[in-house]
Amino acid sequence: MTRRYTLLAWTAAGATYLLIVLGAVVRITGSGMGCGDHWPLCNGHLFPPLDDIGTVIEWSHRLVVALVSVLVVALAVYAWRATDPGRQPGLPGVSPPSRAPLVAVALLVLQVLLGAITWRCSRRCSRQRAIL
Ligand code: HEM
Repeated sequence: MTRRYTLLAWTAAGATYLLIVLGAVVRITGSGMGCGDHWPLCNGHLFPPLDDIGTVIEWSHRLVVALVSVLVVALAVYAWRATDPGRQPGLPGVSPPSRAPLVAVALLVLQVLLGAITWRCSRRCSRQRAIL
């Protein structure tokens, strides 16, 4: 494992921790409408005016989602390229050191889908929520 890979992995882990905290802040402060009905834009802008705390919180969550996505995918690509296909049995061309970042990509996709469902539901599932 190279120094650069280790640094990338720690940066991805730190950014993911920040994202989890920010996600909780979005939920606790009820800032889910901070970007209005826009996605991926925020109130119609890529860089919205940050004159409302709800916008700051919601937009920060989105910004860190983008950062974590880039870091996690970069980690998987790095690990994939560094893998010697002949070293271990298992997935074709994938030895154990490169599996963890692939799992991280899968979990990231899952969490993004859950976030998307939450985003959509907070606008269109009010009837179902009222029933539940
Ligand atoms: C790896 C961690 C996470 C990822 C990749 C992620 C990703 C996303 C994405 C893509 C969205 C939809 C777009 C948006 O409105 O920003 C979203 C929305 C949301 N996320 Fe996360 N999220 C993560 C963690 C969390 C956590 C830990 C919480 C709460 C404890 C959380 C709470 C929310 C809420 C409440 C929304 C809906 C906001 C709305 O209604 O507009 N997220 N998330």
